[in-house]
Amino acid sequence: MSVEDLPWWKKGIVYEILVRSFADSDNDGIGDIRGIIERLDHLNDGTPRSLGVDAIWLSPFYRSPMVDCGYDVADYYSVDPAYGRMSDFDELLSECHRRGIKVIIDMILNHTSDEHAWFAESRSSRDDPKRDWYIWRDGRAPGKPPNRWKAVVEGSAWVFDEMTGQYYYHAFLPQQPDLNWRNPEVRKAMFDVCRFWLDRGVDGFRLDLVNFLHEDERLRDNPRKVGWRTYEMQRHLYDRSQPEDHEVVRELRGMLDSYPGTMMVGEVYTDTSKDAADYYGRGDDELHLSFYLDFAEAKWSAESFRRSVDDYERMMPKGAWPCYYLSNHDLVRHVTRLGKHGDAGARARVAAVMMLTLRGTPFLYCGEEIGMPQGRIPRQRLKDPIGIKWWPVPVGRDGERTPMQWSSERFGGFSEVEPWLPVDGSYTRTNVASQDSDPGSLLNLYRRLAWLRRDRPSLHAGDYRPLDVRGGGVFAYARELGEERVAVFLNFKPGRVVLEPGSSGLGEGPWRLLLSTRADRVTGAEVGAIELGPDEALVLERA
Ligand code: NOJ
Repeated sequence: MSVEDLPWWKKGIVYEILVRSFADSDNDGIGDIRGIIERLDHLNDGTPRSLGVDAIWLSPFYRSPMVDCGYDVADYYSVDPAYGRMSDFDELLSECHRRGIKVIIDMILNHTSDEHAWFAESRSSRDDPKRDWYIWRDGRAPGKPPNRWKAVVEGSAWVFDEMTGQYYYHAFLPQQPDLNWRNPEVRKAMFDVCRFWLDRGVDGFRLDLVNFLHEDERLRDNPRKVGWRTYEMQRHLYDRSQPEDHEVVRELRGMLDSYPGTMMVGEVYTDTSKDAADYYGRGDDELHLSFYLDFAEAKWSAESFRRSVDDYERMMPKGAWPCYYLSNHDLVRHVTRLGKHGDAGARARVAAVMMLTLRGTPFLYCGEEIGMPQGRIPRQRLKDPIGIKWWPVPVGRDGERTPMQWSSERFGGFSEVEPWLPVDGSYTRTNVASQDSDPGSLLNLYRRLAWLRRDRPSLHAGDYRPLDVRGGGVFAYARELGEERVAVFLNFKPGRVVLEPGSSGLGEGPWRLLLSTRADRVTGAEVGAIELGPDEALVLERA
């Protein structure tokens, strides 16, 4: 396949938008779809003055009681009034397509909200035709749930419902009952939902908890293991990653294959990376992309990132394409996480170079391009039920969901009124407007990298070859396509490193500097010995 024929989801950069926190067009304190339309120039205006993203992933925008930030869907065929109307969605879609930006939407197949009409019916009586759409069981003894499975968020995964005297199963929050994917009507109903959005023109899906669709038919208990939360005290042999999930993914893939150019990326929630790799199937019959949590959780060291990347390259089936992320709406923002004991600013720059030069599709999370830190939120303003339950243990997810910092104006230019979550205090310094005009800013580094990646086929399509650099502390690799060669050196240490080109496996030069994270380097200059400053990243090109 020639580079031109590579699908957009291999070549491109995907940008995750948390709809609620991106931009508020009607000043009610909540981000909305029109807000996104108004900010599309930031994402891609067709020039290197913008971030040059190829696709956006929208967090759930369907009608929802918002117990779980929209991951509790009450109607899959709607737009929540807080976010706008269906006509706004259609406009966003056509405005994105006009600019060449693809739109993928979050699809929550595993569970609905307990306020979904299907659940209301299912719950109403044991004889209701939709009873079997969810997972209802008798307790194993009075007051005892059907088995010992735990919910991801803690405690039993079963809720006793007085109305009919049975328990229902929920892998996540009690307000998110699991659908019964063994019921063909459920399968059909959810496939119809997917078809509805594909027919509307979306370019694919981000599949929530795709390895949670089926549970063991006999509800066997999981073996115990050591852990600090009840969920982690079990080996999840029977409540996730069941073989039947793969069948569903294959069937969905068949549907997407009949809509050329669409793709699905799946969240495989597991502590075994092999599981995530398994959802690529044979490499062309299941997920197009499978999120890789191991990389997002890697420690700040050259060795851990190299190991993580090499493992995934090894684990994936032939023909599969990796994808990487460091931040999203569920993880502590990486600037805060990785900068814990070092220079967060310099590390964010090295991380940006890594994200945009590895072989694989980068998924950026709104705000990472300006280095937004984890927000600090007073207890009384917390929204995430997990954060509320565990306070003051910082496991809640509100900190990574604070409003986008557009400018140093009040409320960070996100809204004219107090937003749903407080804007982080860093907005006066860390915001899009101030970084836009600063050539040395993180935002401008992301822009340069994005357009460089677009410009160089080796960077968006080439092979990945790790380079063995002596001495440690540097993660280095070459990206190669035909005659084109680009080499990337990432110094994870706060000290200076000098490398002889010969000692790095780089191969014949001469090499010239394409990009450095430091402002004082002259790009285009020929490079002899490779000298890396503390926490510096270099991108070289064979001249
Ligand atoms: C994963 C999503 O990313 C997370 O935000 C959500 O709470 C759970 N799935 C449940 O849908």
